[in-house]
Amino acid sequence: MPAHWVHACRLEAFENRQIIGVTVEGQHLVIVRDDDRFFAAERACPHEGADLAQGRCSGAKLHCPRHLAWFDLDSGAVSPGWSFRALQIYPVRVVGSDVWIGLARASVKDRQ
Ligand code: FES
Repeated sequence: MPAHWVHACRLEAFENRQIIGVTVEGQHLVIVRDDDRFFAAERACPHEGADLAQGRCSGAKLHCPRHLAWFDLDSGAVSPGWSFRALQIYPVRVVGSDVWIGLARASVKDRQ
């Protein structure tokens, strides 16, 4: 099934920031730039809803700002030692200076 691509932001938004919070089609998401890779995920931490736009990213791992669990941005899997579900991850496409998110092909890794 082809993804439903939605325009999320411009590349310039990442000039001084690594994580951008966006709302697309009523969904609150984050877009993360990790060197030359981009990821998109739900914005609220699946644990207690912390704002992941306030987190940090290193090595394709998004660290929650509240309890410091981290999520693998390729799979959404939560770091070892935590039992809550995985983060919902969305495909990202960069075309020219525009960043798009594929909403229809969300990869939900529900590993409770
Ligand atoms: S709210 Fe994110 S780990 Fe607890």
